Amino acid sequence: MAQKESGITELKNRMHCLPACRHGLKQFRNGWADGPAYITQCPIATGRSYVYDFNVTGQRGTLWWHAHILWLRATVYGAFVILPKQGDPFPFPQPYQEANIVLGEWWNADVEEVEKQGNQLGLPPNMSDAHTINGKPGPLFPCSDKHTFAMEVERGKTYLLRIINSALNDELFFAVAGHNMTVVEIDAVYCKPFQTEALLIAPGQTTNVLVRADRAPGRYFMAARPFMDAPLPVDEKMATAILQYKGVPNSVVPTLPRLPARNDTAFADAYNDKLRSLNTPRFPANVPLVVDRHLFYTIGLGINPCVTCLNGTQLTASLNNITFVMPTVGLLQAHYLNVKGVFRLDFPDNPPTPFNYTGAPLTANLGTSLGTRLSRLAFNTTVELVLQDTNLLSVDSHPFHLHGYNFFVVGTGVGNFDPARDPSKYNLVDPPERNTVGVPTGGWTAIRFRADNPGVWFMHCHLELHTTWGLKMAFVVENGNGPDQSVLPPPSDLPPC
Ligand code: C2O
Repeated sequence: MAQKESGITELKNRMHCLPACRHGLKQFRNGWADGPAYITQCPIATGRSYVYDFNVTGQRGTLWWHAHILWLRATVYGAFVILPKQGDPFPFPQPYQEANIVLGEWWNADVEEVEKQGNQLGLPPNMSDAHTINGKPGPLFPCSDKHTFAMEVERGKTYLLRIINSALNDELFFAVAGHNMTVVEIDAVYCKPFQTEALLIAPGQTTNVLVRADRAPGRYFMAARPFMDAPLPVDEKMATAILQYKGVPNSVVPTLPRLPARNDTAFADAYNDKLRSLNTPRFPANVPLVVDRHLFYTIGLGINPCVTCLNGTQLTASLNNITFVMPTVGLLQAHYLNVKGVFRLDFPDNPPTPFNYTGAPLTANLGTSLGTRLSRLAFNTTVELVLQDTNLLSVDSHPFHLHGYNFFVVGTGVGNFDPARDPSKYNLVDPPERNTVGVPTGGWTAIRFRADNPGVWFMHCHLELHTTWGLKMAFVVENGNGPDQSVLPPPSDLPPC
């Protein structure tokens, strides 16, 4: 990875605009500190700095932060760990030590060029050159051993790994050779503990696991490799790091873990099925049982005309056949100051034409309409949103992330969502609570949340390629009438557009 350092310098020189998002932090009434460019703020100009001022309220656990414009989060990201209040123990035995394991993705090429290429129809997919663990790809790539993250452990002790997927475009499997993991937290919410040999983590998600160093002293690889159900030509190498028992010399050759095959959807479904909220008196799952507002959004990939593009066409992505157009001023400012003409509040609650979403390949409905269209939610309403994957152009899975909120994943299934049948199978007792959820290939996912955080909140696929293509929208959550139910005034130094 000799090019890595020079790549970073290059990126730094071009940090013309770098709003940073604290992914998963709720920023109650304070979207000003949320970070996505042109949604809650304008970018930070070249040579400028900006200090985000925010409170952390009611949350603890593993989250992260990243640049939130173009593809700059390729290298600009980090862990954001909120410790429990003092005297507030974990709902599991206290680990001996903990470590952040941040999974990333690396291109030898300039990521802005890769992003441009990603918009062109007919060019090969933008496979990255490596995945990384704590910034390093590990020795299975043609790099020197010093580009390998190693963690020393003592035999008999238990460690908490805070795993974050900050890759741009890949859901990842992760495992530690010879060691089972006990999953205890997802997206900064405790979950019912369960053991697993491997885990699945989508870009945007975090997973805390306990690992007990109870094997013969040695060196064991931790490894990550993509999960992808769409057929792709290359089977990528594993990114690796080393779990090293104290006193074991570096000359010992580490063993590799078994990771599910690249297209192992059965493993992915079974793994996601095991995720449950803790739902104890101390950590209740407050799932909205009554729904005020039902939303049904189809996710489509399509093709639109494009005058400046190579083939006169451009790949697009859409929700309810609408491809989101980024504004040139911040939406939260426009909402707060009541500036007209920046966005429309008419995002449809349902797709334009019902069709067999996951049926035979569809050629109709490929073209989408463009617009900066938002959906208005009355303060404190309970919302159910069904995200339906479709077979427009191709089926792919999509990790959806909602800013400003956690939500409950009450149901998921294959094929077309059936409003008459599927809701009866929802888990309304202990569904997983999170901020990013994978919508399965050719299937659907239903989430519920209470719109109690006023502001403008971005929702998008956390695969950067799809976000670029327009797979995004935003909610405007109105102010409530009570005290402390309105958007706070903006900071006076918010970057100007
Ligand atoms: Cu992780 Cu819109 O972000």
